[in-house]
Amino acid sequence: MRKPFVAGNWKMNTTEAEARELAAAVAAGAAGLACDVALCVPFPHLAAVREAVRGSAVGVGAQDVYWEAKGAFTGEVSTAMLADYCRYVIVGHSERRQFFGETDATVQKKLAAVIASPLDPIVCVGELLEERRGGHTQDVLSRQVCEGLSGVELSARVTVAYEPVWAIGTGETAAPEQAQEACRFIRGELRKMCGGVADQIRIQYGGSVNAENAATLLSLPDVDGALVGGASLKVDQFLAICRAARA
Ligand code: 13P
Repeated sequence: MRKPFVAGNWKMNTTEAEARELAAAVAAGAAGLACDVALCVPFPHLAAVREAVRGSAVGVGAQDVYWEAKGAFTGEVSTAMLADYCRYVIVGHSERRQFFGETDATVQKKLAAVIASPLDPIVCVGELLEERRGGHTQDVLSRQVCEGLSGVELSARVTVAYEPVWAIGTGETAAPEQAQEACRFIRGELRKMCGGVADQIRIQYGGSVNAENAATLLSLPDVDGALVGGASLKVDQFLAICRAARA
């Protein structure tokens, strides 16, 4: 069966000193957890966080990557650069789509580059509030999955994060039925693309996950973990979420 996977997405937060302290505290509390754990941190803190979690079960991830191998792409970071520092990388977060013009086509290019590298991707999908209200959630998820994850070999290396955009940073969480229904639908779309491999792909829920709601969300049959924003910046909250994940 799928081992739960809880990842923190620190977004654009922390100084290097704060990053070290937070990562060391998570590493110290992570022994004996039943889930895989990763911290997706800002690029400049990758080395410091890698040091801080060394010897622990905590993995390190980045929050974005570019698809070209190298060249004149000012400000961008390649898979090879990241692979020296971390194992995971988030691809297609809704904030990248919303503020930085990412599309299903750019997500697909990034994912293809990641799959060709040693990195393991966490690919984000999720509908906007108006899309949910308009009854288009499944259409949006279908398009994001079928286009964003097309043309690559899907395997257990891939994690998909279902993050309804209206639940991100709002304190509003998807109801358990909404989260389960969306994650079940995503797995169905994956099954059309890669058959039984879809049962090995972990699907995280993301969007205002906290210590209080984690146990309910993580017990849903098609929810295999969480992608945690705000609560991942608080050691006690994040570790409580990790403890809520049962194998
Ligand atoms: P919050 O947990 O702060 O809602 O953020 C979710 C998220 O975007 C994780 O990638």
